[in-house]
Amino acid sequence: MMAKITIIYDSITGNTKRMAEEVYKGANHVGELDIVLKHVDEASGLDLLSEGLIIGSPTHCGVISWKLKKFFDENTRVAWGKVGGYIATAFSSSGGLGGGNEVTLLSILSILMNYGYLVFGLPDYAAPGVTGHYGAVSVRNPDEKELKQCYLLGVRIAEYVKRFHS
Ligand SMILES: Cc1cc2nc3c(=O)[nH]c(=O)nc-3n(C[C@H](O)[C@H](O)[C@H](O)COP(=O)(O)O)c2cc1C
Repeated sequence: MMAKITIIYDSITGNTKRMAEEVYKGANHVGELDIVLKHVDEASGLDLLSEGLIIGSPTHCGVISWKLKKFFDENTRVAWGKVGGYIATAFSSSGGLGGGNEVTLLSILSILMNYGYLVFGLPDYAAPGVTGHYGAVSVRNPDEKELKQCYLLGVRIAEYVKRFHS
């Protein structure tokens, strides 16, 4: 059976959704993995049992959106402590530069670590001066460089899942 990567995102005005689509493309690029993309409203606790998990949230007051927080809080019984060694990362769209998108990533990574996922960021540069050491970030409508960051995040998680779980 192929290892699975699930991308779960929340998005009110479409910016995080656009990032999610690019992460999905990057993860698919690697091949021989089952890649699933879901809005948090469509996600179930069982999705947390994927070998790779990527969470995308708009920056809301500097932290994860309430819907995603609720999703994690409600699914501890299904997945908490059962995903040790599974691999996860995150992305976030904010309204402003300095508006807290990286702080939001840390709030997501903190939840993922509590569950037991191994978390990572990008050592890669999407363009000169544009990296994603805590995951991928964008400000409002993601531009080409920010989308490249998302694509790379998808490629990296697929490579890691393939190396450790296929
Ligand atoms: C409730 C709420 C809180 C927000 N808080 C922040 C914030 O703390 N910092 C920031 O830069 N933008 C903030 N924003 C703006 C969004 O992060 C930004 O518009 C983002 O691109 C929205 O992503 P989406 O299109 O996926 O919903 C907030 C928006 C909402 C609705």
